Amino acid sequence: MSAGSGSRSARTKTGAGGGQEDYGAKDGRKSTRPKVVKEDRGRTVGRNLKSARPKAVKEDRGRTVRHVHKREKTGEGPVSAGLQPGKNAGSDHKKAVWKAGNMLYPLPAVMVSCARPGERPDIVTVAWAGTVCTDPAMVSISLRPSRYSYGIIDETGEFVINLVTEELIRACDFCGVKSGRDTDKFLETGLTALPAVRLSFAPLIAQSPVNIECRVVQKLTPGSHHIFLARVEAVDIDEDRLDENGKFELNKAGLAAYSHGEYFALGRKLGSFGFSVKKGAKTDRVFG
Ligand SMILES: Cc1cc2nc3c(=O)[nH]c(=O)nc-3n(C[C@H](O)[C@H](O)[C@H](O)COP(=O)(O)O)c2cc1C
Repeated sequence: MSAGSGSRSARTKTGAGGGQEDYGAKDGRKSTRPKVVKEDRGRTVGRNLKSARPKAVKEDRGRTVRHVHKREKTGEGPVSAGLQPGKNAGSDHKKAVWKAGNMLYPLPAVMVSCARPGERPDIVTVAWAGTVCTDPAMVSISLRPSRYSYGIIDETGEFVINLVTEELIRACDFCGVKSGRDTDKFLETGLTALPAVRLSFAPLIAQSPVNIECRVVQKLTPGSHHIFLARVEAVDIDEDRLDENGKFELNKAGLAAYSHGEYFALGRKLGSFGFSVKKGAKTDRVFG
């Protein structure tokens, strides 16, 4: 995984743990100069293209666009497996193809807390976090080895994922640009550390509505970031968030999301799981 979308120019030399990154703000745009991509390896190129070679596009408002596949409006589309001309195969959609980078958004930006015996605890902001499986409940976080928190988690095998609300978003950003090497992040943010229930060292952040206590079971080292695969040992939920029947109202907690270098408050509800096929759902086309 290439964090910060691999954009070297977007990194600053100062800051935490061997270089800050914008975690998606610049999307691999190394320069505004267009580059010609020589080959289109592994991609199916439509038979009816004027040339089988993709064209280099000069410039798209300062962005480097590698090439654009413009399929001719001949009625016949691309010939990839499963695509049927005139049915599910489009012919006039243009796609700018960028070099490989990270573009999976929106994401939760979470605050991960950790601690080593005898030292002050640390909080690191992580956007490359994910749910891995339900049974056993497992999650992952990807960290650059240069992060101060990386050493702590590697050594103790523990961390807590703290969900972030609108209220916590400044603290979350702060913990993502300052390093625990030279900053006491609990002190500076005013956040409160609480002991975890199932972990020995990593604390919970009291102000977060949900704290996920994790124990590392495996470390993967695929590239710039290492993945800590962890088993969820306990989930701590603010009692104030439970309604009178003990139901958890997570979506009323004001959770924040992170997308393409920016933070957002979650907005309008669009539906619930499975609503597209529920009785009484629209019976015409699902899309459009
Ligand atoms: C929104 C955001 C998301 C981030 N996501 C990650 C991430 O997934 N992995 C990572 O290694 N660093 C990530 N960072 C950078 C670290 O949080 C940052 O380098 C931090 O200062 C490291 O703190 P530490 O040195 O105390 O561990 C992110 C930063 C921000 C602002």
